Amino acid sequence: MCKLEVNIKSAPKNYPIFINNHDIEKLKDEILDYIGDKNFIVVMSQKVYKLYANILNFPKEKIFILKDGEKEKNIKNYAKILDFALKHRLTREDSIIAIGGGVVGDLAGFAASTYMRGINYIQVPTTLLACTDSSVGGKTAINTSYGKNLVGAFYQPCGVFINVNFLKTLDNRQFKSGLGEVVKYGFIEKSCLCDEELNLMNFLNENAQNILNRDILTLADLIKICIKLKIAVVNQDEKEKGLRKILNYGHTYGHAIEKITNYRKFTHGECVVGGILFALHLAFKNGKIDKEYKFLCEDLISKFDFPKIPKFDKNKILDIMKTDKKAGNDYITFILPTDYASVEAFKYTIDQISL
Ligand code: GLY
Repeated sequence: MCKLEVNIKSAPKNYPIFINNHDIEKLKDEILDYIGDKNFIVVMSQKVYKLYANILNFPKEKIFILKDGEKEKNIKNYAKILDFALKHRLTREDSIIAIGGGVVGDLAGFAASTYMRGINYIQVPTTLLACTDSSVGGKTAINTSYGKNLVGAFYQPCGVFINVNFLKTLDNRQFKSGLGEVVKYGFIEKSCLCDEELNLMNFLNENAQNILNRDILTLADLIKICIKLKIAVVNQDEKEKGLRKILNYGHTYGHAIEKITNYRKFTHGECVVGGILFALHLAFKNGKIDKEYKFLCEDLISKFDFPKIPKFDKNKILDIMKTDKKAGNDYITFILPTDYASVEAFKYTIDQISL
């Protein structure tokens, strides 16, 4: 249905992103045709395994099943995947195929980045969040007891295969979590400096109901728009030296909420939406946006009926934000809205932040 190309100057080669709604049973052949006559292993989420292993029809002995949940993105599973690849005698010519959400993609990608100093990996995202964000751009990582994504690598996949039909069986909470990242792209569009005008905020306003009803063609268009924006950003700044930081809109406060609730109470996307609402409040208080724009953004968010994040203890939230890996010693960096679909990075000291 559609093929986009990632073309990062600092990365060794370009790679394609295929977006389609073909029968899922065709996916194995599509991937195997792409990697050619090479060896591979598949890292697959347990949920995807239960629902799709028979339809996908990869040889069972080549599948490493990863239990679901963020806590599985750990060093033990990383080591197990490396052993699994060694047991299957993968060489540098071969591939790891990651089928699942962000946890599977990040973990399998990190294993690929270090296995024999780096082998190919293919991303097959099956959640909305992975389709629109984490499968593209090469951020791979594992979590440690000190925090999320603290060990990892920028390591690009050699292809991304998005089949929108996977989204039909995604549970509602996970679907909404993906929508959190999707609305983020709407609010940062102009700052992504994409050659094409995509007008995602309009698209979201006009298609909110079709999106919530999971109309497949609408979702395919939505994913295409988000990926075009993500490609524009990572092509310019693979390693998050500057521009890529805008993808963290809503994340400084959002990560603090995730941490204070032990990553259990709210999904990542729900926390990002909480973080965007906080950023709108902070930007308005500091005269970066007017109340009309704040209202426009809040109104768009309300169309997707995200759960409300309650207020948490101010000092605890500030303490967590201070230790975020993106914070400095005396200040916290926030990505804040400045204009229609535009954001910029601002540094604030603790006393300047009103919660
Ligand atoms: N998910 C944010 C990024 O890829 O930079």
